[in-house]
Amino acid sequence: MCGIYACLGNFDATNKVLEGLKRIEYRGYDSWGIATLNNKIEIEKHIGKISEVKKLHLADSDNAIGHTRWATHGGVTEKNAHPHLAKNGNFALVQNGVLENYQELKNELIKEGYKFQSETDTEVIVAMLEKDEQKIDLKKFAKVIRKMAGRNTILVLNKNGEVWAYRQGSPLIIGQGQKNNYFFSSDLASISHDATNYHVLENQEIIHFDGQKISSYQLDNLISKTINFKKMDHQALEVDKGNYAHFMLKEINEQKESLLKVLALSEKIFPKIAKKIESSRNIYVIGAGSASYAAASITNYLRSNKRNVYHIPAYDFTDFKNLFDKSDLAIVLSQSGETADTIEAVEQMKTKGVFIISVVNMPSSTLMNMADIAYPLNVGAEIGVASSKALTGHMLFGMALADYLEKQNFSFISEVTKFSKQLEDWFDDQKIMSDIKETAKILSKKQDLYILGRGQLLTSALEFALKIKEVSYLHAEGFSAGELKHGVIALIEKDTPIICLVNKENRENMLSSAHEVKARGAKVIGIATDNEEIFDIFIKLPQTEKFTNLSSIIVAQLLTYEIALIKKLDPDKPRNLAKSVTVK
Ligand code: F6R
Repeated sequence: MCGIYACLGNFDATNKVLEGLKRIEYRGYDSWGIATLNNKIEIEKHIGKISEVKKLHLADSDNAIGHTRWATHGGVTEKNAHPHLAKNGNFALVQNGVLENYQELKNELIKEGYKFQSETDTEVIVAMLEKDEQKIDLKKFAKVIRKMAGRNTILVLNKNGEVWAYRQGSPLIIGQGQKNNYFFSSDLASISHDATNYHVLENQEIIHFDGQKISSYQLDNLISKTINFKKMDHQALEVDKGNYAHFMLKEINEQKESLLKVLALSEKIFPKIAKKIESSRNIYVIGAGSASYAAASITNYLRSNKRNVYHIPAYDFTDFKNLFDKSDLAIVLSQSGETADTIEAVEQMKTKGVFIISVVNMPSSTLMNMADIAYPLNVGAEIGVASSKALTGHMLFGMALADYLEKQNFSFISEVTKFSKQLEDWFDDQKIMSDIKETAKILSKKQDLYILGRGQLLTSALEFALKIKEVSYLHAEGFSAGELKHGVIALIEKDTPIICLVNKENRENMLSSAHEVKARGAKVIGIATDNEEIFDIFIKLPQTEKFTNLSSIIVAQLLTYEIALIKKLDPDKPRNLAKSVTVK
């Protein structure tokens, strides 16, 4: 949540930061701000989305820092937007994270006479740095940082041209440009436009730019260390919308290829994972939001191999923490690799000696670096805020792993190759695409809809509902069809849309549920490989039974995308959300 972008030593820094912030806007988009340095620090801040900005009021500059905000402390106002300027005008500061002990520190500062202008926790850091009026040097910067609790990454632009940065939790990457200029960003993909080399700051790493050169220090000893920049793989980090109207639509379509990409490293890494699984007592599969649904699905697949597998939503981790032991293994799912709930769960598991396997999409992210075995999800940059190809990629990873554990071969890859081809034809089928659009029109007029699934299609139903809620703001709930008679059926009225996810495995039960809801007036929307008499509306899935869990979710993605367009919503940036949830 929140994004930081900075450009140092470039004649075009102000525009570079404007463009950089647009690339990381998915991290938070309620307000934004940029600070530039031309003799003095000047700041421009606004409420709203930076992607809509064509021109800044700020003049060009060699050094600029910027921020795109997802509000945590203090409402969405210009005052609360970052950067925050020191009262003496000496520096501007941006933060990504939360200063957990801000109230206590703020009270002390108020007692000492400091007058706060915003409601943010960030201004407390500004006030601490400004105190005593001495120039910011390494000792002073470290002293302030040591008082800060929580996951907070900060960047400070000084009036004398110096820059100080510190990472704790929330990611920060420094990029080296071709002309010995430097960039900072909250993600690697966005910085690849400007930089040729990069370094991901470690936790508790301090960076100092003196106007010419960059130095790095670790907070515990303040001894300077060399930065080993890595070469940027630009192709892997491509973040272009191409000819698509939205990232979400592009990423939905990319699933034709991305599923196969997930398996690129399976032959190399699965045998190592399998060995570890064989020797482990319990396996926990964890993730948050969509990644948690994927974790539930993987748990089912691995459990069918008669293993002790448990699904843990990362945010409910504390309910399970007494279970862990060093003979256990955790499979950790994340697109961003920066989700605070998931990181905290992994930190706790590691203290108990649990072996960590991460399946993460974002290269060089925190969760990828924390793992004992890191399996790169490899679906390419996912910019649309709602997870699409990362979610199906995670589910496919679990299916492939379970298949490998059972058969000890990689025959699954050819099945996925075939499915990818079928998906391609399916996307090209005008009749199916128009059925989806027509259904979206009907659903867009409704207030509530329910999605029923069973077996492997239960987690698909839950994910289906989440996609509808977050992108098209309709009230949608996913249920096991088994729940129906135990209460849910009371919700059915005339024309209530009930979406039934049907495959061979659950067909009998699902159809009897479809009859029960129809008898009470529901409109039954069937999503399956084959039509059934009971369906009022039918959306056809590719004719591959094995992958209906994935293809039914792709229908959900397309439906919610179309509903969002009908309702004139931005499917890439749903309200109140941010792509990377780096606060708890
Ligand atoms: C839903 C969605 C979120 C994320 C969740 C975890 O569409 O995108 O629920 O799945 O915030 O994020 P990652 O996968 O980055 O850990």
